[in-house]
Amino acid sequence: MDVEEGKVRVVAIDGPAGAGKSTLAQAVAEHLGVERLDTGAMYRAVAWSALRHHVEVTDAEAVARLARDSTIEVGDRVVVDGEDATVAIRSAAVDAAVSAVAANPAVRAELVARQRAWVAERGRGVVEGRDIGTVVLPDADLKVYLTARTGVRAHRRAGERGDGRSVAEVESDLARRDRLDSTRRHSPLVTPADVAPDAHVIDSTDRTVDEVVAEVLSWL
Ligand code: CDP
Repeated sequence: MDVEEGKVRVVAIDGPAGAGKSTLAQAVAEHLGVERLDTGAMYRAVAWSALRHHVEVTDAEAVARLARDSTIEVGDRVVVDGEDATVAIRSAAVDAAVSAVAANPAVRAELVARQRAWVAERGRGVVEGRDIGTVVLPDADLKVYLTARTGVRAHRRAGERGDGRSVAEVESDLARRDRLDSTRRHSPLVTPADVAPDAHVIDSTDRTVDEVVAEVLSWL
């Protein structure tokens, strides 16, 4: 791993839901003056599209076709087939559907190819997700695996969303998604014990996300 001053071009940030990946990714991207790619938003976009077209998320063929045929732009806004889905992809319905979509190997193949193309076009960037340092960009210059205890993640996420869901409801969704994401056959979410060997593992349970950001920025 090359973390020498000025040499970091590609950063991979992985970890479970609500650990603070997006805040960290945003700060690192700003610091480096590069763009950021939220790969979770891409899986969410496909799940949203499936719900919208009344495609069962368990219909692997149909969902894969949808993934291949959809244009998905992920930036400040998330635009799917020309429609702004920025808010809709964060709904409880998408939370409930996304893990099944992400377990579909054909969907993963399509989105991983797009994620690699995104980096290849720019030659630099900060990419966040579940399998970035292990599968998508194993040669990333800096890899971070960010985690936190489930209860703490649920509190943060419930605060961010403000959609009326209780912390307990959010916590049960996070725990369910973590379980599905870590037990799926293809590119499962790994535990801190078997992250990429060259990843920095950071637990933000007892630290604010801002403190974590400051530490990671100190490595750049
Ligand atoms: O924002 P949150 O941490 O809740 O999740 P996300 O990053 O938006 O990702 C939503 C879902 O997409 C996850 O629960 C995974 O099922 C899936 N995902 C994935 O499988 N691989 C990635 N690289 C990113 C997300």
